[in-house]
Amino acid sequence: MTTKQLAGTTAIVTGASRGFGRGIAAVLAEAGAQVVGVARDTAALAEAREQLGPAFTPVAADAADPVLAGQLIDAYQPDTLVLNAGAFPLPRPIHRHTWQTFSRNWEVDVQHAFHWVREALLHPLEPGSTVIAVSSGAALRGSPLSGGYAGAKATIRFLASYAADESRREGLGIRFIAVLPDLTPATGLGQAAIAAYAARAGADVAAFIDSRGPALTPAKAGQEITRLVVDSGHDKDAYVLSAAGLSPAP
Ligand SMILES: NC(=O)c1ccc[n+]([C@@H]2O[C@H](COP(=O)([O-])OP(=O)(O)OC[C@H]3O[C@@H](n4cnc5c(N)ncnc54)[C@H](OP(=O)(O)O)[C@@H]3O)[C@@H](O)[C@H]2O)c1
Repeated sequence: MTTKQLAGTTAIVTGASRGFGRGIAAVLAEAGAQVVGVARDTAALAEAREQLGPAFTPVAADAADPVLAGQLIDAYQPDTLVLNAGAFPLPRPIHRHTWQTFSRNWEVDVQHAFHWVREALLHPLEPGSTVIAVSSGAALRGSPLSGGYAGAKATIRFLASYAADESRREGLGIRFIAVLPDLTPATGLGQAAIAAYAARAGADVAAFIDSRGPALTPAKAGQEITRLVVDSGHDKDAYVLSAAGLSPAP
């Protein structure tokens, strides 16, 4: 992003303390946005503030808290929401899950997307605003070692498309877009999943990573998601995100 196309705007990014969220916060800030970053780890948030400077406002909170979305939308009047926070799924086959471990990503990822999408519609955000909901490529293919993860991420895609439809019906002018990133070893969550799939295949982790080709990085995720925010010509409800960039989701 060479120009400050988002100067004068405010973005809230959930899960901004590390991984994709940190990368997305960095590129949005580079593009001129004032970024409010939500996560629970105060030390990692302080590190993000150190890295990004005064363009980044850390908020230590649970993004799935039912009160938080309304509070932060009222306080910051964002033009952009990136709903990226996601729980670490326990990497085990289905029969080794309990209902509590299976439903973890429903309680965190889906619940948080539900509260924030609802508040975005009810507030409502200003016309021209963008809400990005981070789903996963697992929503297309399944994820047999992650309990309810793939279903939770598929529901996040549905939530974004239902909200896009409500926005069109009410003439709100808010874009709701689901982004489905490829599995990548470049974040803690992706690394753990890849290690589990490599072990299941009886493969060496490094060889397994090599066999998957170029990996999506947090910086690339940040660039592509910022492109979606800046360019309203991206008019699909869902995009797959890989190391090669964005493409409309099947
Ligand atoms: N990496 C991949 O391969 C991949 C592929 C497809 C989709 N995704 C999705 O991309 C998103 C980001 O994942 P990542 O790979 O960057 O994982 P990560 O490195 O583990 O980061 C997850 C982020 O979510 C935050 N978070 C988790 N629970 C939270 C809560 N209750 N409230 C606030 N923040 C919370 C974490 O911060 P705190 O712990 O500080 O709260 C952290 O900042 C997730 O939704 C994930 O499912 C990842």
